Amino acid sequence: MKIPYVNLKKQYFEEKSKLIQKIKKILNSGQYVGGDEVKKFENKISSFLNVKHCIALNSGTDALTLGLYALGVKRGDEVITTSNSFIASTSVIVHLGAKPIFVDVKKDQNINPDLIEKAISNRTKAIMPVHLTGRVCDMDAILKTSKKHNIPVIEDAAQAIGSKYRGKFSGTFGTVGCFSAHPLKNLNALGDSGYLTTNSGRIAKLILDLRNHGMTNRNIVRNFGYVSRMDNLQAGILNFRLERLKNVVLKRRKNVKLYLKNLNQKFVYIPQETKKEYNTYHTFVIQVSKRDDLKKYLKKNGVETAIHYPTPIHLQPAYKKLKFEKNYLPETLKQSKKIITLPIHQFLQKKEIIKICKLINKFYEN
Ligand SMILES: Cc1ncc(COP(=O)(O)O)c(C=O)c1O
Repeated sequence: MKIPYVNLKKQYFEEKSKLIQKIKKILNSGQYVGGDEVKKFENKISSFLNVKHCIALNSGTDALTLGLYALGVKRGDEVITTSNSFIASTSVIVHLGAKPIFVDVKKDQNINPDLIEKAISNRTKAIMPVHLTGRVCDMDAILKTSKKHNIPVIEDAAQAIGSKYRGKFSGTFGTVGCFSAHPLKNLNALGDSGYLTTNSGRIAKLILDLRNHGMTNRNIVRNFGYVSRMDNLQAGILNFRLERLKNVVLKRRKNVKLYLKNLNQKFVYIPQETKKEYNTYHTFVIQVSKRDDLKKYLKKNGVETAIHYPTPIHLQPAYKKLKFEKNYLPETLKQSKKIITLPIHQFLQKKEIIKICKLINKFYEN
């Protein structure tokens, strides 16, 4: 029995007949760039998340870039974030000429709010918490610091559509929320897509222009912009899949329960969901000793796993010009050697999860 880490083909085969009908309808409409599906998607997301504006974009990366730009981040500024993220959350800061200031994480892999204040300087323009794995960061503490210093929060919610903290949706706490709809996300397009949320009318208007060459209309360009629009076709696919998101999340949460029941937690550390959180489990990451050996052992036994992320961003070759102290970000460093991402997708069967748990328990018992 081979257990894949993701199963996008299965998702497609399950949806095929209805999805193809939807795609045909959009192709027949002749609307490809912009169109009804894009508008519908934006309306659906803003009402789902209870936020005033959603702007459909072509990726989560562009949502972050345009969000930072709208907050006025520019050359010489600093943005506080974490180093244990997908590379995009840092590269967008670098591309605007600003400097990422990394803060260490808690045991649950999310930014440690107690360390944010020390990282603030008079150049800090934004705080960017990353809701890693689908778990929302400790927003009470982050917002307290943000308010105290009057520094806006831009949430990297790329992995966290539908996740909640104290009953409020991720991407609606800060001034801007940024989401990815990459095929690997819980709400996934058939290619690159992303979206941005905000309650600010000014920011929404600015980003609507920026995603479309900066054009307010055919004749007026107030800011030089980008080409960062979501295709009508991808929006249609996302509208179709948005109706299924609830079940996707429920199945993932059910899978986690099975893992928790069957994994011997003497051997593995699993950050538990606290009462404040509602995690949508974009990924299911556990922390273990002998991680690389475990990964090989699981692979030999047909279980595909991943590591998110093996190299903290500040240690990437792209950063080689900067020298960091040896023990910089100790928790991030420690976790990078322990984390392993187990399959969690909605097509996993109970017997597959039990097999994975048995293998892991056996690996450590021996
Ligand atoms: C934490 C995080 N930030 C940003 C991104 C970038 O999103 P996209 O791939 O849609 O550009 C991703 C997606 O992989 C992500 O996981």
